[in-house]
Amino acid sequence: MGMGVQQVVHPEICALEVSGLSKTFGATRVLTDLDLTIRSGEVHALVGQNGSGKSTFIKILSGYQPADKGGEVYVAGEAEGWSDKIAFVHQDLGFVDSLSIVENLAGAFHSRSLGTLNWRAERIRAERITELAGLSLSVDTPMRSLQQVDKALLALARARDEVVDARGSLLVLDEPTAYLPNDRVRELLSQIVQTARSGVGVLLVTHRLQEVMAVADRVTVLRDGKVVATKEVPETTEAEIIEAMIGTTPDATYPDRPDSLETAAFLRIRGLSADLLGPVDLAVAPGEIVGLAGLVASGWEQVPYAIMGALDNVNGSLAVGEAEPIEFARMTPQRAVAMGIALVPADRVRDSAVGELSVEENATIATLPRLVSHGKLDLAGRRRLTNALLKQFDVRPAVPDVAMSTLSGGNQQKVLMAKWLNISPRILVLHEPTQGVDVGARYQILRHVMEAAAQGAAVVIASAEHEDLANICHRVHVFERGVIFRTLEGGDLTEAALLSAAQGI
Ligand SMILES: Nc1ncnc2c1ncn2[C@@H]1O[C@H](COP(=O)(O)OP(=O)(O)OP(=O)(O)O)[C@@H](O)[C@H]1O
Ligand SMILES: [Mg+2]
Repeated sequence: MGMGVQQVVHPEICALEVSGLSKTFGATRVLTDLDLTIRSGEVHALVGQNGSGKSTFIKILSGYQPADKGGEVYVAGEAEGWSDKIAFVHQDLGFVDSLSIVENLAGAFHSRSLGTLNWRAERIRAERITELAGLSLSVDTPMRSLQQVDKALLALARARDEVVDARGSLLVLDEPTAYLPNDRVRELLSQIVQTARSGVGVLLVTHRLQEVMAVADRVTVLRDGKVVATKEVPETTEAEIIEAMIGTTPDATYPDRPDSLETAAFLRIRGLSADLLGPVDLAVAPGEIVGLAGLVASGWEQVPYAIMGALDNVNGSLAVGEAEPIEFARMTPQRAVAMGIALVPADRVRDSAVGELSVEENATIATLPRLVSHGKLDLAGRRRLTNALLKQFDVRPAVPDVAMSTLSGGNQQKVLMAKWLNISPRILVLHEPTQGVDVGARYQILRHVMEAAAQGAAVVIASAEHEDLANICHRVHVFERGVIFRTLEGGDLTEAALLSAAQGI
């Protein structure tokens, strides 16, 4: 992926110099003696398995958490007064949906009350940032009506606007592409490279190693809170990076697709339609894994939520097994659960994690009825189950009692995945199941999905990860403008074919 931007690295200026940085939470050491240098003008990727300490490092840079005593952090050569030399794009982007673009962009920078803002100046700045993002939108547009990718471009533009042309400054990005479809990622990456080439040092946290290979100049690998390698990207390979991350060569292969058990459909959807969706017919047999794909907002992303009874203004009907069809309008999440349907939503942490509860409570909440005997919760049984799930899904740390909120983002996702797969649903619906998890966990999660199918679940998986779909699905429906535009199966189901079908070719 050539970005077509000339490389102008300024090795003589350091945007960031960190030495001997450590961080402990209670008795747990999360970062140990970290050394890291980011040159002005370079894109420096920071990679590592879930829980290796990437976000903790960023939280220290942003002043959200203090580091242990003894470490040193210099930004543009200065140990103090440096905060205006760093701009951040945090993973959740930090926008308020109910406010407009200009209100969001103004509020983000000024702690003083909105009443005293100079709105004329704020409008001009918001217009500049919107244009920098490459969006032709009025700054009065409510944030709610923007697609995720446009929000990400806007957050990046806001950060670029802060540091642009400021030689020696630093731009820090925590998984900026995690929630974006592949076809829009390129746009964001090329803006990131452009920013670096204007003299800004860029720290890029990502789980997508293809991105690292495409745009980073150097990459630093964290393992268990320690820097295990810093490499020039042209002199390394994806395999080498993975090995440094994990310490061994992982089993990074897709398992064999389970044979589809039956041909008679178990889940039947007729005439599903909603805003910008439909009509869609869909049939999934027990043991079958059916993929839904397409460009962003082409309808496929809404289907999981319709099946779960969580979408408004829906028409059409859904039937499970021999039961009479039920109108979508009458579906509710409770009814879906009673019908044996489990949905693993894309924004798992926001939609279904309870941060204050323990890992054990989160992992077993959907299984509680089965853990009650003689009217009492079987605590020992629950503990055994939790330990088994934590091991199966490789959750780190594998400690049942800690609060969910102390787990790293990827590890929280693994817990929620374990929770839903453990109820042995008859119909398993997943939206972006491998988002935000590291390479090792990715194949593990897909193996669990395939196991559920092998045990007879009808599986629907909506994802922008074409490689996953091509390797685990029996069939993939590609959407365009709300309807199924093409269906790929057998020898025709390849990553390349999916990509071109998604583009309407
Ligand atoms: N407040 C806290 N109390 C105790 N432990 C914590 C706390 N915050 C983070 N940790 C631990 O620090 C470790 C590193 O977490 P961090 O969020 O930095 O990982 P990460 O590399 O960003 O992972 P991911 O790729 O999953 O986002 C984890 O083991 C996590 O459980
Ligand atoms: Mg993180």
